[in-house]
Amino acid sequence: MKLAVPTEVDKEETRVAASPDSVKKLTGLGFEVVIQAGAGTKSRITDADFETAGAKIVKTAASVYKDADVVLKVRRPASVELKYLKKHTLVFATMDPHGHEDEIAAIAKTGASAFAMELMPRITRAQSMDVLSSQANLAGYQAVIDASSEFGRAIPMMMTAAGTVPAARVFVMGAGVAGLQAIATARRLGAIVTATDVRPASKEQVESLGAKFVAVEDEEFKQAETSGGYAKQMSQAYQHKQAELVAAHISKQDIVITTALIPGRPAPKLISKAMIASMKSGSVLVDLAVERGGNVEGSKPGKVVDIGNVRIVGHLNVSGRIAASASALYARNLLAFLATMVDTEKSVIDVNWEDELVSATLLTRDGAIVHPSFKGSKEGAVNK
Ligand code: NAI
Repeated sequence: MKLAVPTEVDKEETRVAASPDSVKKLTGLGFEVVIQAGAGTKSRITDADFETAGAKIVKTAASVYKDADVVLKVRRPASVELKYLKKHTLVFATMDPHGHEDEIAAIAKTGASAFAMELMPRITRAQSMDVLSSQANLAGYQAVIDASSEFGRAIPMMMTAAGTVPAARVFVMGAGVAGLQAIATARRLGAIVTATDVRPASKEQVESLGAKFVAVEDEEFKQAETSGGYAKQMSQAYQHKQAELVAAHISKQDIVITTALIPGRPAPKLISKAMIASMKSGSVLVDLAVERGGNVEGSKPGKVVDIGNVRIVGHLNVSGRIAASASALYARNLLAFLATMVDTEKSVIDVNWEDELVSATLLTRDGAIVHPSFKGSKEGAVNK
């Protein structure tokens, strides 16, 4: 069983789909692991680290992909990589299929089986495979680090002989995986933390981290969580009440971190330009939802912008800003999923195509798009 880890084609991508730890375990499962030279460099993993863990290092993409049964990637295979995919290849990545149906159709044409890790169901058995959680958790942490480096002031209260520095006030909007880690990190740094969400279940979680919960807790709020644990789109009336509450609160904050998302919809706009104008000079906003349209009016994907004296941070791929940790956890997620597909006694790949984890994540197989959410007219015939 040959397993390939190519260098990411996208130059902005800092992560890699394997770690020395995952290579050791993959080798233990019976894989011959082949990694492209330099694949781990931006995640602080050297070729020698991978070699010591049991991988073979090869120079070119063509040689890493040659005869691969399994390909592990961070991002969806790019068009230049499609020529390497074969009918028997299993390829795992964050495929980002929404709005990229043409690219998924092109992968389907190769005949390869492509798994979208971000579609993993959030059930107990799959927790160790949940890339959304592993990466969002680190993004929440990094958002606080980025905010504090832009802030220009200390976060904790400091009483010194030269005088007292007040503790920073941090407000976290959206208390899912990223938001809860942002709260915990800001608390560890000594900030006075408040947080909001529309799901009632989040109130207890926020409070258990030592932050104050601030929200419009009306009848609609009590019904705002779907059976899957996600937020619903709120009514105009609720949004209006929420905006009033936020407007009053935000003018007293130093740092605001927004993480609010609704599955399958653009991110809700929670902070208007008028609210930004009411903030103190030197305040910092970090918009973690910027890739999905943003929670903050005026945030720009991939940019740090100033509106008046308030700074708005809109970094993309925030978990990639903490690449060594992000790669280590992502590699673990991949390993946990792949381990369910190997017959270790016979050292062969044995996919149970009926498994709910497989059917939830499998986008393409045998030349067609097979995922119910993306099946359509775009699939083509197998070209081999
Ligand atoms: P997400 O990334 O979809 O959204 C982030 C947060 O924004 C959510 O908490 C959401 O309620 C909030 N939000 C949406 N609209 C808002 C608004 N207008 N104002 C304020 N906040 C708003 O969510 P994430 O982080 O993926 O987590 C969603 C849920 O899934 C959580 O309950 C989490 O605990 C749960 N979960 C369960 C797992 C499991 O059982 N294995 C694993 C990971 C998460």
